Amino acid sequence: MSEVTYRIAAIPGDGIGPEVVAAGRRVLDAAAARFGFALEWRELVVGGAAIDAYGVPIRDADLEACRESDAVYLGAVGGPRWDDPNAAVRPEQALFALRGGLELFANLRPVTAEPSLVDASTLRPEVVRGVDLLIVRELTGGLYFGRPSEERRTPEGRVAVDTLWYTEQEIRRVVRLAFELARGRRKRLTSVDKANVLASSRLWRKVVEEVAPEFPDVTFEHRLVDAAAMMLIRDPGSFDVLVTENLFGDILSDEAAMLTGSLGMLPSASVGARRTAHGLHGLYEPIHGSAPDIAGQDRANPIAAILSGAMLLRWSLGRADAAGAIESAVRSALGDGLRTTDLAGVGAGARQVRVLGTRAFTDEVVARVSAGATRGEGPRDDEEIDVATIVATNTLLGMP
Ligand code: IPM
Ligand code: MG
Repeated sequence: MSEVTYRIAAIPGDGIGPEVVAAGRRVLDAAAARFGFALEWRELVVGGAAIDAYGVPIRDADLEACRESDAVYLGAVGGPRWDDPNAAVRPEQALFALRGGLELFANLRPVTAEPSLVDASTLRPEVVRGVDLLIVRELTGGLYFGRPSEERRTPEGRVAVDTLWYTEQEIRRVVRLAFELARGRRKRLTSVDKANVLASSRLWRKVVEEVAPEFPDVTFEHRLVDAAAMMLIRDPGSFDVLVTENLFGDILSDEAAMLTGSLGMLPSASVGARRTAHGLHGLYEPIHGSAPDIAGQDRANPIAAILSGAMLLRWSLGRADAAGAIESAVRSALGDGLRTTDLAGVGAGARQVRVLGTRAFTDEVVARVSAGATRGEGPRDDEEIDVATIVATNTLLGMP
């Protein structure tokens, strides 16, 4: 019997990136073994490591390798070594080359409050309990990609300009995807903008109004970004899906991440319209950064990377079975009181808390995936959107 083999491009990157990618790969391989498929990994040097090795943050050939793979799995890039603001090459440029080059226009950041970790938040448990929201951040437009973006010397001194540019097509495709995702969840969509100030936001609003009639079953609202930032702290449970432009999404997703208490928990998926034989082509990475201060110490929380791997399985490979097993395993480990250093002080009800290093925590997840343990609360399917839905979305978008 020949088993299916999926091809994954792995980018360990910098700082704790290699540690969390190694952890995630072990968990994904365990899931593959249990569910009878194979993963063929191709490891690429990208980010600060690539600047050191090749003088560029990402080589064209490596971008091509990512394009040819079924999915891309990334740790984190960047670090103080490459932080000089005057440097011509920066590790983050690799991220933009990947996002732009692979046309990954939608960044999906689910934020769910893990029941055993509600105490980890700086907010009161009753505010955080039950939070289950999804931020859909536009990823290939706005200030990140608008030109000009430069510093100039003028007779009056230095001037800098960035450009917030959006075409209606760029807005429409990500808004449609967000409506589609809301339809698969609790059917509520919040579009976040700054329409009282920005022309780009007023166009954004018009496009949302134009798309909305296609989704009569989804309730939508517009919210100004400052008010949305406030509401995320005041009543996070009131949100289902949020959709917003690139920079607002960057800021709001870090804010939302803190609802769960640790940045080390949250996965992300970046997807576009391109399909492979198995699902949507995409890039999966933790939302945390490279955390150079704890790199190489076996202290990183691998959960965000592991859960990003589960998203990869679900969205790019169509393996919801294996994805669910991984999510159950993580939940079971947390439910049993196992913690990484960042969560060390967080209680586990009646159970005793045991703090483990990156590798030992990963061992526990691997063991649960292999054994099919569902001692926690079992797979959660709230964030679960099957590939058929995604593919239907893209058909809807009229894209190949
Ligand atoms: C993120 C990060 C990046 C971004 C940085 C590293 C350029 O903050 O993925 O949210 O701003 O997009
Ligand atoms: Mg960010």
